[in-house]
Amino acid sequence: MTWIDEKARVELEYIRDAKSTGMYPFYRPFERGGIRNSVDGHQVVNYSSNDYLGLTMHPKVIEAAHKAIDTFGCGLSSSRVQATTTMHVELEERLAKFFGFEKALVTTTGYQAMLAVIMAAADKDTTLVLDNLSHACILDGSFLAAGTPGRQAELRFFNHNSAKSLKRVLESRERKNALVLVEGVYSLDGDMGKLPEITEVCEETGAVLCVDDAHGSGTLGKHGRGALEHFGIEGRVPLVVTAFSKVFGGIGGVVFGSEDTVDLVKHNARSFLFSATLPVPVVAAALTILEMLEKDSVALVAELHEKSAYMRKRLLERGFDLGNSNTHIMPVMVRDTTKAILLHHMLWEKGIYLVPIPYPGVKKGEERMRLNVTRGHTYEELDRCVEVLTELATMGGLIGGAPSE
Ligand SMILES: Cc1ncc(COP(=O)(O)O)c(C=O)c1O
Repeated sequence: MTWIDEKARVELEYIRDAKSTGMYPFYRPFERGGIRNSVDGHQVVNYSSNDYLGLTMHPKVIEAAHKAIDTFGCGLSSSRVQATTTMHVELEERLAKFFGFEKALVTTTGYQAMLAVIMAAADKDTTLVLDNLSHACILDGSFLAAGTPGRQAELRFFNHNSAKSLKRVLESRERKNALVLVEGVYSLDGDMGKLPEITEVCEETGAVLCVDDAHGSGTLGKHGRGALEHFGIEGRVPLVVTAFSKVFGGIGGVVFGSEDTVDLVKHNARSFLFSATLPVPVVAAALTILEMLEKDSVALVAELHEKSAYMRKRLLERGFDLGNSNTHIMPVMVRDTTKAILLHHMLWEKGIYLVPIPYPGVKKGEERMRLNVTRGHTYEELDRCVEVLTELATMGGLIGGAPSE
């Protein structure tokens, strides 16, 4: 046995235990795309999907991807430097126009886009300032920048969503340039970043603000332009990163900024330069969804908001704890790993797919079910989810009195 097998044996004992008792809840092999799905013929509705506008399986999106395959194939065998197409350029121009930025750069994943921004910007003159509940892509990009020989940016954290804490950190930073990294919507908690206050602090202290709006683009703001539109701060945030893996029907990342900043990322970011280009069928899918937003975003976003408000009201009426959520992402707090996994399996049996988020995905005592409302869910599906959740959660003592042991 090699040391790595030994390491896996020791570190993943809890995973092996879960598998041997049939309780392992992850990596289920779905038999098609979309929120109505099946595994081994067992039908489920997915309530943990990030397909917030329900457009991923839209016939026009699929048709556009098919057409793009005929012309461009599934891949371009190289990075953007030598494998950019007219479709990539069109998508970038239209994204920049829709979201109100000078330039946009399309990358192959959202994770890669964030690494690219951080690594293009950060050097020994930079302090990176992160919310302490940051997504892995912000953490990993920052760790890379802090650990890269010759760069070694300073890395500091502030208390989640606290402009006061951010200000303290910025005022005590060691390097002259500060890059503040926050999110439009925090994906595990479903709470919005407090961007007006954070923007103000950045403006006061000369820090550059970068907002990861992967979960806000296409879902927040009357026109779906995201967290900046929602808060009325468009034009005041220099950098936004987003992802196609939620509203935009595929995978991919986008960096929005000024022409100069986007050019810096385009020419200096190794995660962008040394990784293959986004396949054109996926570009075509994103372009088709962007077209739908250009034509009809107000109605699409309004429908998502109506369904979210409906679900939130019903869940709160039944006594569910939705943590800090104030968006379409509304985690059902279970606060116990075993209960979260048991609840997942019981829901699964009843055709409801809710991903459990156990420790160590979140802190002990903050274990939860990931519940995301999408425009694609019908009101009947939302009702059924509430009914079944209520029945099982009451049985398990999560709501309505003392737990049944
Ligand atoms: C906040 C946030 N940023 C970035 C990403 C990464 O996006 P992608 O899946 O395209 O790599 C995600 C996706 O999980 C996310 O939730």
